Amino acid sequence: MRYFLYKENELLCEDIPILELVEEYGTPLYLYSRNQIVENYKSIDSAFGSTDHVTCYALKANSNLHILKLLAEEGAGADVVSAGELFLALKAGFPPEKIAFAGVGKREDEIEYALAQKVFSLNAESHQELQLISRVALRLNTTARVSLRINPDIDAQSHPYITTGLHSNKFGIDSSQALDAFRHALSLPSVEVIGLHTHIGSQITKTEPFIETAKFVVQFLAKLHESGVRISHIDFGGGFGVQYANAIRHEALHVEDHGSGSVTSPAEFVASVLPILQETGCSVWLEPGRSVVADAGILVTKVLYTKENGNKKFVVTDAGMTDLLRPSLYNAHHQIVPVRIETYESEKVDIVGPICETGDFLARDRMLTKVKPNDVLAVLTAGAYGFVNTSHYNARPRPAEILVNGDRVRVIRQRETFEDLV
Ligand SMILES: Cc1ncc(COP(=O)(O)O)c(C=O)c1O
Repeated sequence: MRYFLYKENELLCEDIPILELVEEYGTPLYLYSRNQIVENYKSIDSAFGSTDHVTCYALKANSNLHILKLLAEEGAGADVVSAGELFLALKAGFPPEKIAFAGVGKREDEIEYALAQKVFSLNAESHQELQLISRVALRLNTTARVSLRINPDIDAQSHPYITTGLHSNKFGIDSSQALDAFRHALSLPSVEVIGLHTHIGSQITKTEPFIETAKFVVQFLAKLHESGVRISHIDFGGGFGVQYANAIRHEALHVEDHGSGSVTSPAEFVASVLPILQETGCSVWLEPGRSVVADAGILVTKVLYTKENGNKKFVVTDAGMTDLLRPSLYNAHHQIVPVRIETYESEKVDIVGPICETGDFLARDRMLTKVKPNDVLAVLTAGAYGFVNTSHYNARPRPAEILVNGDRVRVIRQRETFEDLV
């Protein structure tokens, strides 16, 4: 996250001291670096070289319209999983021929909307969904381009909540039924079978699961060819992991031992599978979400109180699980740093929010530089699966979102007011 950096103990987002933004826009506040987003996207897209491909941004990671417009302007495609995401993608300017509609539970009206908008591919995840797509396409007197999402039973070696490619997960068509599913799809009226889709999980930090999946795809395509089925398109999903621990270093900051150190870069991930997938001669689509936006965003929060209960020290902040759910949901680790470093002294604390839930925390047993009320903290690497998971629980209006480009600032979502709770 090179666009968030300390200058004389003061954290900046691109060229702007974050404390200045806090004075103007308050906390909790989501803050994004425009240049980091664009750089992340370009590093993935350019790793394909001259291979026929589309890098589809997965809207689920962060669907702020201004961020979407930015990526659409850069030439990205879109991976959507609901009619709402499709609506946003089209509004942001993604061309329908670069949109893939995935998702394990598409409703009939969502399928109808996607067909009417002529998206490139509906990624089907079951026999029953294939039948419904066919019926809807027939009724609309159109042809549905379909890819089949196959569950390869490969362990992404990630958190169980974000592992999607095992047979015990709800996603995709079991690999043992995959050939039958393709035959079934080919027999259906108003369906054109164009591709194969896999997505084995998220926050994957090693290349091995991707390489294994790429090999599975190549072997499966060979079987398909043997049985006379030819497809032209592979959607390889997303899932590239990002670095959450030690995202920013400074001599005052405790070096975190969470996780396994440095993470493979998206370009290395692409390079590890591209030669394998190229054997198929198919066009390759990717659906990265986290790796495009995670390190381009932070959540800024103010310390309200510090206190001790027994041996425990608590730092109570004005952001909690309603603003960033990941720590409460799956104990996710986000590095948390002071926006202005005033001391090199650290202590072990729980950083907790104001929500009436014991599970409302941003970090537990964390070494944090000593803080006092009104100090401002930055929760790092919060650009993905952050704002999109905010809620009104405890009747809390959602935070504002700000996009920084050099020394320019743009409010890309106003802070909600009490009226938004009604
Ligand atoms: C089908 C599909 N594609 C792409 C993604 C994006 O994954 P990531 O944000 O890890 O790149 C997801 C997220 O889980 C997904 O379910």
